Amino acid sequence: MDPKAVKSELVLILDYGSQYTHLITRRIRSLSVFSLCISGTSSLKSITDLNPKVVILSGGPHSVHTPDSPSFPAGFVEWAEANGVFVLGVCYGLQLIVQRLGGEVRVGEKQEYGRMEIEVEINSGLFGSKKVGDKQVVWMSHGDEVAKLPDAFEVVGRSQQGSVAAIESPIRRFYGLQYHPEVTHSPEGMETLRYFLFDICKVSAGWSMENVLDEEIKVIKSTVGTEDHVICALSGGVDSTVAATLVHKAIGDRLHCIFVDNGLLRYKERERVMETFERDLHLPVTCVDATDQFLSELKGVVDPEKKRKIIGKEFISIFDAFAHDLEKKLGRKPSYLVQGTLYPDVIESCPPPGSGRTHSHTIKSHHNVGGLPKDMKLKLIEPLKLLFKDEVRQLGRILDVPQGFLKRHPFPGPGLAVRVLGDVTTGNALDVLRQVDEIFIQSIKDAGLYDEIWQAFAVFLPVRSVGVQGDQRTHSHVVALRAVTSQDGMTADWYYFEHKFLDDVSRKICNSVRGVNRVVQDITSKPPSTIEWE
Ligand code: XMP
Repeated sequence: MDPKAVKSELVLILDYGSQYTHLITRRIRSLSVFSLCISGTSSLKSITDLNPKVVILSGGPHSVHTPDSPSFPAGFVEWAEANGVFVLGVCYGLQLIVQRLGGEVRVGEKQEYGRMEIEVEINSGLFGSKKVGDKQVVWMSHGDEVAKLPDAFEVVGRSQQGSVAAIESPIRRFYGLQYHPEVTHSPEGMETLRYFLFDICKVSAGWSMENVLDEEIKVIKSTVGTEDHVICALSGGVDSTVAATLVHKAIGDRLHCIFVDNGLLRYKERERVMETFERDLHLPVTCVDATDQFLSELKGVVDPEKKRKIIGKEFISIFDAFAHDLEKKLGRKPSYLVQGTLYPDVIESCPPPGSGRTHSHTIKSHHNVGGLPKDMKLKLIEPLKLLFKDEVRQLGRILDVPQGFLKRHPFPGPGLAVRVLGDVTTGNALDVLRQVDEIFIQSIKDAGLYDEIWQAFAVFLPVRSVGVQGDQRTHSHVVALRAVTSQDGMTADWYYFEHKFLDDVSRKICNSVRGVNRVVQDITSKPPSTIEWE
């Protein structure tokens, strides 16, 4: 989706590396206002091209005194003032405003980290109907403080320690908060953002998933035209499914999808996923059973990275063959490829100094198809690239993607290959794992826990242990259960099941899956572990 195609007024966030920056974007979108985030060091042209009504300068780990600390470009203040653009600085953003507009920032005598109380010093639109002397709790995290305000500014709020907590210059349309209104630890922060956007900036609330859907369909129709064909690899996950459903709504059966059964899917996954694609979503999908091809290439391979590479390569060859078959059938090459890229994958961010990261515009390669053949020369359609995961789920709901499907836990592209440790073709490891996994997941669903767990699955361990089943001594497999809570998969905590639940699951597994006599639970967070075992 082209940001310029979105009709709503834009609140642009300039990112200076705070861990909360994306939260600001999401909070603003939750107020039905369109918001985008770009690097705080973007050029003036990239900012003005987007034509924002409001610009928010985020927090960040820097000090304005450090040489090369990131800042907005020359000409930004003049452009904002000349064009009636409102600017709000948050934490480091406030200090940037003060310093760049001619005030002074100094190293704070008292640093302010965590929960603080602030008091209204002057009636301000930022605090709505609050009166002078009213207090509120906020979350602060700063070492520098304002020593002198720029011309035409006033202090409108002060911390319990006496330092500047909020400033404004209604004439110049510049505002600043020394605390983080976007975090839940600032309980009235959302109210302040609301006052700022609606009362001060008079932004109109026009961002909704219904509008996104309409805009997106128009954009796809005009991009693809009336002749061209589009292909899409469906992984069975939420993103590729919603992206394909959207494109299908726009161009109908000129969309051609492929779903590959690589023999590494979960219990009855192919049947279940294909049923949703065909019965519920009416998507034109070619299902390719490539089990033998994948498993024969994976035979004897134990190194996890080698497994991933082999799987990626096989996906490419199948995808390539699909595109060539289509070309023969249609008499023309497909021109576009749909990808379910999400906003967090394309966000430009301003990394903290020393992090080794650059201000690059990164787009993740699609794990699930393992990359694409270079000679295909397909142009990309990425209809979800301005959306967060929860927005994709909302869009999916509007598109009638079944609720159960939208809430599915993430599943890695290489599938069960990274959950059977070692050689996946050993004995009946994959079948055993499928049965164990199904019992575990079904028990989680029956207990009503599925939605509060980020991801749950079983792992087949390449070890046998001694057991006794009936009167017989057994020497059978050990399986591990893994369930984690997480926000984004970057960090994770293991999930605390009740003992009774674990006891029931363990009994069910050992009583119904042949070849398993021991069940263990993985109780490691990420870090130090990863979510998957390989
Ligand atoms: P880790 O194991 O790195 O996993 O903590 C984080 C999230 O990423 C998923 N994952 C993958 N997804 N291809 C994928 O498409 C992969 O190779 C891959 N490896 C891990 C994992 O399931 C979790 O959600």
